[in-house]
Amino acid sequence: MNHITELFEKQFNRKPTVVSRAPGRLEILGNHTDYNEGFVLSTATEQATSFAMAPAKGTVCTLANAAFPGQIFTIDLADLDTPKQGDWTNYVKGALVEMKKRGLNPGAFDAMVDSTVPLSAGMSSSAALEMAFCFALKTIYDLELTNADWARVGQGVENNYMGLKSGLLDQFSSIFGKKDALILCDFRTVEVLANVPLPQGYGFLVANTLVKHNLVESDYNRRRESCERARDILAKNDPSVKMLRDADRAMLERGKDQMDITDYRRALHVIGENERVMQGVELLKQGKIEDFGKLLFESHESSRMNFENSCMELDALVEIAKSLPECLGARLSGGGFGGITIHLIRLQDAESYRTRLETAYKAMTGKEISTILCAIGDGASAEKI
Ligand code: GLA
Repeated sequence: MNHITELFEKQFNRKPTVVSRAPGRLEILGNHTDYNEGFVLSTATEQATSFAMAPAKGTVCTLANAAFPGQIFTIDLADLDTPKQGDWTNYVKGALVEMKKRGLNPGAFDAMVDSTVPLSAGMSSSAALEMAFCFALKTIYDLELTNADWARVGQGVENNYMGLKSGLLDQFSSIFGKKDALILCDFRTVEVLANVPLPQGYGFLVANTLVKHNLVESDYNRRRESCERARDILAKNDPSVKMLRDADRAMLERGKDQMDITDYRRALHVIGENERVMQGVELLKQGKIEDFGKLLFESHESSRMNFENSCMELDALVEIAKSLPECLGARLSGGGFGGITIHLIRLQDAESYRTRLETAYKAMTGKEISTILCAIGDGASAEKI
């Protein structure tokens, strides 16, 4: 928090009144289940985005970002309507638009931003930015929303301002993450059902393929439409099905002949993921970490075969992981189509595993990856100073 305060003081020649922090997230199990009102096991990362902020007069807000040294960005509260292509301040503007829709009218501000969450990598750098911004602004202007609604503000930015029909997972995990635990999230009731500690001595190595996915242009939205079409058919057969969350494998098999085969496979992935999340929680409670790891491999296989949101680079990493005894389980994490894989390992093996993974990946693909041993951090916070 000190670093961001210093950056603010250098930039604005005054002290910030609030400092906030919101982490990235790792999706551990439960891929594309959130917008189907299903379950996810996720964590907040120690990598986070920080804001230092102070109120300003008038309607013009001034922002600086440590990632763009020497540049100044402005936002006029009176002109929030159009996103500017490729501009990071869209996430801030979009959040202000979503706040307005909810009857919140914060004043202007000066802000400094810094982040350790890798960009466009599947660790939700955008949700971290949105939530760090919202938490700073709500603290300055006493804006009152529940935490679930703050997550919805961030989701609204993605859905309405950026055009990505994403669920609530990223913002929700950024807010509700718990140090050293996985959180079991229910996206029907929008609550954390349990904190599930990871056994001591285990952690996640994150491997970034550096394949940059632009989810808006990718098939993300089409995947969601597939899920909804499958849901519509299952709902006709059984009115208790409101979302794919309510369906099981038997219902899906009964509806199989009525639906497009691709939609069937998408739904099979989602139903399987919901099952794996619940199995995973039980296995962790029983201390069966090896069996938990196997679920990660199964999840990736289902992404590869059924949901088709993997890619050559992600598959290569998971194949290598399967061949290395240090790894208990690995899978793509997040939207897919590039980004990261997560690897469950014993912490004592972290360095040897990292080296072996990087070397094998280079030999197999000729490409580099960047790896981070990702500690599990707490959710978003803000404090007045
Ligand atoms: C992205 C979206 C989330 C979620 C995941 C897949 O991270 O932003 O809402 O759908 O993909 O589980």
